[in-house]
Amino acid sequence: KSENKEQAYQINREAAKFFFRALRERANPGYSYMKKRGIAPETLNKFGIGYADSQWDSLYRHLTAMGFKKEKLLELGLISQSKGKYYDKFRGRVMFPIMNTSGKVIGFGGRVVGEGEPKYLNSQESSVFLKKNNLYGLNITRQEIGREDQAILVEGYMDVVSLYQSGVRNVSASLGTALTENQAKLLKRYTDNVVLSYDADQAGINAALRGLDILHRENCRVKVLHVTDGKDPDEFVKKNGKLAFLKLIDQALPFADYKLSLLRKSFDLTTTEGRVDFLRQAARVLSDLSPVEQDIYIKKLAEETKISQGAIRLEINGNTSEKQSGHQ
Ligand code: CTP
Ligand code: MN
Ligand code: MN
Ligand code: MN
Ligand code: MN
Repeated sequence: KSENKEQAYQINREAAKFFFRALRERANPGYSYMKKRGIAPETLNKFGIGYADSQWDSLYRHLTAMGFKKEKLLELGLISQSKGKYYDKFRGRVMFPIMNTSGKVIGFGGRVVGEGEPKYLNSQESSVFLKKNNLYGLNITRQEIGREDQAILVEGYMDVVSLYQSGVRNVSASLGTALTENQAKLLKRYTDNVVLSYDADQAGINAALRGLDILHRENCRVKVLHVTDGKDPDEFVKKNGKLAFLKLIDQALPFADYKLSLLRKSFDLTTTEGRVDFLRQAARVLSDLSPVEQDIYIKKLAEETKISQGAIRLEINGNTSEKQSGHQ
């Protein structure tokens, strides 16, 4: 069993080397594409980024010539089979090797060069690749995360690579899925302070809300920022630089403030109805906080809405007892 795993790691490592070399050959589309996106050779090396050429079966031929069985290659999602023929799963893509914290290659994310669908193709799950247990880049950035005692969590491979290159090195990404409990626990080995920096679209906001709750449950101190220029941290930092991004981190909103700020936007606080609805929802947010934190936010909300602290407190306690008695 563990022999099997070791071989899987070995095959993935060989595939990563194959892709790595291909991106460093003269005039290949992968290198030009990454260059166009402003990624320097040192950064490409640091993350082991490679290129899957557009031939049908170059990786298949390479790995089988090395003696690896096609069954294993199929299992790892490196090749596919159709009508008795085998062909490479990743073709014409920039390849991001995904490593676990021991530095073993567990899978790949492949970005199409330029436009095309799907934009990203990821390895299928396998004996060594469970998305929910891993974070992209963490093998490279975990020391920096520990040193800074803070992790910036982003959506994408390019966000990690680009922030890292700009000098923001305490960064990692969940693997194209919503953050999981296991990923939160993994991160917590290195820090309790997490800043969610997901894309500035509705999907990014939804992902931030889920991530907040998961990290909060793991007792992390978690804040949220969305970039104010461009779609994501990659675009932002390229345009505005490291210091501007650090400023966004400084201004990131804590758990409750982020949720309350979203609520504020969705209700009309100039009407009585709007204020009532806002406070009901706000009370739900506050019921997840410690008594001391609650006290602070109750005072703020009372002032903001001109509703008494006592009434807000009652509203919160109503929620808490509902939760305890298992209603909702
Ligand atoms: N993703 C994926 N499959 C897709 C689209 C996205 O797995 N078809 C994952 C990838 O991990 C990607 C992340 O979700 O990095 C964020 O997606 P998106 O914001 O759409 O892509 P970007 O990372 O911004 O990619 P790029 O900058 O290269 O356009
Ligand atoms: Mn700590
Ligand atoms: Mn997105
Ligand atoms: Mn992007
Ligand atoms: Mn993005």
